[in-house]
Amino acid sequence: MELKVPEYILSIKPYTPGKPIEELEREYGISGSIKLASNENPLGPCPKAVDAMKASMQDIHRYPDGSGYYLTRKLAEKHDVRPDNVVLGNGSDDVIGMLARTLLQAGDEAVMTAPSFLMYEILVRSVGAAPVFVPLNNLAVDLDAIASAITEKTRMIFINNPNNPTGTFIKQDAFEAFLKRLPPSLTVVLDEAYIEFARDPSCLNGLSLIDENPPIAVLRTFSKIYGLAGIRIGYGVMPAEMAGLLHRVRQPFNTSALAQAGAVAALDDEDFLYQTLELVATELDFLQTALNKMGVTSFPTQANFFLIDVKRDADRVFQEMLKEGVIIRSMVSYGYPRYIRVNVGKRQENLRFLEAFERVMDKTAQEPGG
Ligand SMILES: Cc1ncc(COP(=O)(O)O)c(C=O)c1O
Repeated sequence: MELKVPEYILSIKPYTPGKPIEELEREYGISGSIKLASNENPLGPCPKAVDAMKASMQDIHRYPDGSGYYLTRKLAEKHDVRPDNVVLGNGSDDVIGMLARTLLQAGDEAVMTAPSFLMYEILVRSVGAAPVFVPLNNLAVDLDAIASAITEKTRMIFINNPNNPTGTFIKQDAFEAFLKRLPPSLTVVLDEAYIEFARDPSCLNGLSLIDENPPIAVLRTFSKIYGLAGIRIGYGVMPAEMAGLLHRVRQPFNTSALAQAGAVAALDDEDFLYQTLELVATELDFLQTALNKMGVTSFPTQANFFLIDVKRDADRVFQEMLKEGVIIRSMVSYGYPRYIRVNVGKRQENLRFLEAFERVMDKTAQEPGG
């Protein structure tokens, strides 16, 4: 084969998603394991969404509504924007891809934090643009450093709030002051995948700022709070002119009929939303209090996950936790060799995590570097 592959494609390191539970259980010869590694909803999928998807099954011989008419209108109403501000995606990943294809080209720069959600870098590189990394400061997004990293080539800035994987957040007033320092020729992509979990009232919410200068594209997802990660549905809210441009590159049927039906129903399931928020707040407190009693450092968070400083090789802790049937995420590849990330589960899962974690910490305490 003599494919002429562009250099920028060769520069992409493929995304390695967390392995499915079944695969890990086969690999480690374990069963009944629990997964606290992908920031999913501990309660499972939103029940109203499941019912609506079942009901819409009878029509799946037909193509979906390519415009996502009902979902777009419902989202516009919920967020007090116009339908032409909304772009639906096959997960918010898909919207990031459309933003990159529409607004970036070879030679452009896109500023993002390090670490950050890996798809920003992959999708920026996939169109030949260059990622420019700005380190976090004390686990938090450093708006001053981001502003200083802007050059005349910068066309996009990615900001994640609350931030994955650290759980830190940006305050509304700090972000508004930051916007004033930016040139109008770039787009701020504000990824709010975890915004519904934020508990601090001063936490930034970008929806009222989309038409500012520079323009803002706010990303939201049904994968986390609504428990619909597997059906792939997310969206962007942005200035109508930008949304119109994204529709030029959007695949005509990028969101499935099932996903649209599920998402419309999920927006009406207030009970599920509150149950999820209640559970995450209670269990986060439970987990962090227990860890504190064990003398383990964990970090404050505004999301449904948090970091723990294991003070030893995080990959080693990850491996030992796997043997215990508890799947968490090592932060080694994110540049934090001694941190793990855990998302909040149900009480039984959290208890199991804590028991396994205590055993693993004891077991690894005497090892070199432990
Ligand atoms: C920060 C961040 N943005 C976006 C996503 C992707 O969301 P979606 O499932 O809607 O593609 C994730 C998923 O883990 C995430 O952590």
